[in-house]
Amino acid sequence: MTGLTLALSKGRILDESLPLLEHVGIAPAGDIDRLLRVPSTRADVSLVMIRPADVPTYVEHGAADLGIVGKDVLMEHGGSDLYEPLDIGIAQCRMSVAAVKGYVAPRNRRLRIATKYPEIARRFYAARGEQVEIIKLYGSMELAPLVGLADQIVDLVATGNTLRANGLVEVEKICDISSRLVVNKASMKMKHAAIQHLIDAFRDADAKRV
Ligand code: ATP
Ligand code: PRP
Ligand code: MG
Repeated sequence: MTGLTLALSKGRILDESLPLLEHVGIAPAGDIDRLLRVPSTRADVSLVMIRPADVPTYVEHGAADLGIVGKDVLMEHGGSDLYEPLDIGIAQCRMSVAAVKGYVAPRNRRLRIATKYPEIARRFYAARGEQVEIIKLYGSMELAPLVGLADQIVDLVATGNTLRANGLVEVEKICDISSRLVVNKASMKMKHAAIQHLIDAFRDADAKRV
């Protein structure tokens, strides 16, 4: 039997993945809060629990055959060293530019942009010919404009509650984001039938959920 290792992003994607996995006939058979490798109820599928930003690396290197990860992480990671066969439609949000309400762009210096996504931000501003200074943060981007660290932020927005609560407004949407199934390129060749089955099962499960 061809065993498959599926990398799951810990956090909100994991929470939203579990019901979808159930539709595919996969449930963790172990303590997913503590264990990093967890067998599943399907003998041919084992699960690994990974921090979202590390999922593309595990899948690219073949440490996992497949993974579930946000499009934001894939865009920031860059490259095309893995296949992205399916949008599984969970963890929906958008990547946006935001600023303090009533904000006016400075004229005498470059815009300062705080973000956890420096590559996405760099590409976005470069595409419009704006030279900006990018400040890399690891979380709570919404604070940066409030304390003068940045003029704008590039971050994920879903309900808009976090922006509103902090007196920020969305200036512009960069793109829509959802989670994707990604596949290691060699695995796709070597374990093609098993992986194609799983991709089809995820597609069916997604169709049945809506
Ligand atoms: P870490 O905790 O390792 O820094 P993280 O903050 O990216 O990771 P999560 O907040 O669980 O982890 O987000 C995982 C993914 O879920 C993101 O990459 C994005 O695709 C999506 N996401 C993030 N925030 C939201 C949100 N507010 N609503 C819906 N989806 C979101
Ligand atoms: C994410 C994102 C925003 C917020 C947007 O943060 O970075 O701050 O969700 O969601 P909303 O529009 O529904 O308010 P998260 O809750 O993941 O916190 P984090 O900074 O720990 O990643
Ligand atoms: Mg988060």
